[in-house]
Amino acid sequence: MKLLFINACIRDKESRTLSLARNFLSKYKENNKDVEIKELVLNDEKINPILNTSLKERDKLIKNKEYENKFFSYAREFASADKIVIAAPCWDYSFPSILKVYIENICVLGLTFKYNTKGNTSTGLSKFSSLLYITTIGGYPCDKTYIKNIASFFGNGKYYSVYAKGLDIVGNDINGIINKAKKRLDKISKVF
Ligand SMILES: Cc1cc2nc3c(=O)[nH]c(=O)nc-3n(C[C@H](O)[C@H](O)[C@H](O)COP(=O)(O)O)c2cc1C
Repeated sequence: MKLLFINACIRDKESRTLSLARNFLSKYKENNKDVEIKELVLNDEKINPILNTSLKERDKLIKNKEYENKFFSYAREFASADKIVIAAPCWDYSFPSILKVYIENICVLGLTFKYNTKGNTSTGLSKFSSLLYITTIGGYPCDKTYIKNIASFFGNGKYYSVYAKGLDIVGNDINGIINKAKKRLDKISKVF
């Protein structure tokens, strides 16, 4: 069983989101010895945004069904994973832009999604049976719809999310918030 861990925790060792994600993954591994975890550290990847030239190149490759092209390596990896965990802090009411760039790169017609013959609806082609989004937020408001929507666009696996909020608010019980998130992640790890 292949689990793809998309690590968009830019602060790396200092990241509280990453520490929650590592905690989840070790619990999950304890209960699922057969799981093979592939970690994609977005900090270390050379992923390019889709710009005018690359958009044209991509459209040509898709038209010719050249799905083995290296252009699609992230999309192939995403589409074939059984489980997906994404960890990213809340940045600017959303998440670090490298995660959006990654998502642009995996949005590939014919690999991660397709349109029906009439072209008026889409179906996800990605295999995942569960997808988990882990985030931590300094304050409280943060968009909760985007990752959920994009997950259901890519596939019909079950969606889970953990939002640990208020971590930079003076006077908040930070350990309490983190422990609550860990407990929720422990519960998810049993059904994921
Ligand atoms: C560049 C940047 C942007 C941020 N934007 C927001 C934001 O829009 N809303 C918010 O509540 N907190 C924001 N924060 C605070 C982080 O969400 C918070 O500290 C989070 O726990 C950081 O996660 P990490 O420890 O995994 O890096 C921001 C922090 C940084 C560094």
